[in-house]
Amino acid sequence: MPSQNNTLVPVITVDGPSGVGKGLVTRWLSQRLGGWHRLDSGALYRILALAAERAGVPDADGPAVAALVPGLAIEFTGDTEHDEAIRVNGENWVDTVRAETSGALASRIAALPEVRAALLQLQKDFRRAPGLIADGRDMGTVVFPDAPLKIFMDASPDERAARRYKQLSDKGIPATLDGLCVEIRARDARDRNRPIAPLKPAERAEVVDTTGLSPAEVIGKVETLLRRYGF
Ligand code: DC
Repeated sequence: MPSQNNTLVPVITVDGPSGVGKGLVTRWLSQRLGGWHRLDSGALYRILALAAERAGVPDADGPAVAALVPGLAIEFTGDTEHDEAIRVNGENWVDTVRAETSGALASRIAALPEVRAALLQLQKDFRRAPGLIADGRDMGTVVFPDAPLKIFMDASPDERAARRYKQLSDKGIPATLDGLCVEIRARDARDRNRPIAPLKPAERAEVVDTTGLSPAEVIGKVETLLRRYGF
């Protein structure tokens, strides 16, 4: 249950395009800060897109997709290292939620104003003591504009596609590098150019360009930011 005045709880936002390494950074931040909660807002858009598909609701019908939100009981039961489970109405949806195809579906419904409005309070309710690390596209610009530290991660599309290719190959999931490049560029274009809550750095966001950096180098940059902001 969210507290009545959860705006006193600190939030660090981590926004950026798909495949940029937000998962790595948010997991690390949560551990480094002694178990702050995490909000993977992309998973909420993915779950809603999958729920709409299951219910046969067209992905361009904003009011009908948004109307599904109150019927979804969503529970993240992952520890800080893994996604153990994403339960939706008691069923584990983690594999379908993480599939590449769900990302594309999510990006489509995410452009609908009714959908963004329906998910807004749900996201704010994740703000619980001792603190929240929230990742997505509009965490710093729309959902938690008062966050004391806003990080915006970026990297070239080719590098993000290569990283995603490696992640998928390591898990034995079939994919092609060319296919991933096309998919990432299409998703970037949709997320950056939509009229509502487009992907862009918040005012006073700290931009971390991870192109050419190893995971350890990315974490090093974030650690420097944490110190600078007094965390
Ligand atoms: O972070 P992700 O790949 O799981 O997100 C899937 C899609 O959901 C992404 O392409 C756009 C949308 N999304 C959004 O519009 N706003 C967010 N805060 C998070 C995700």
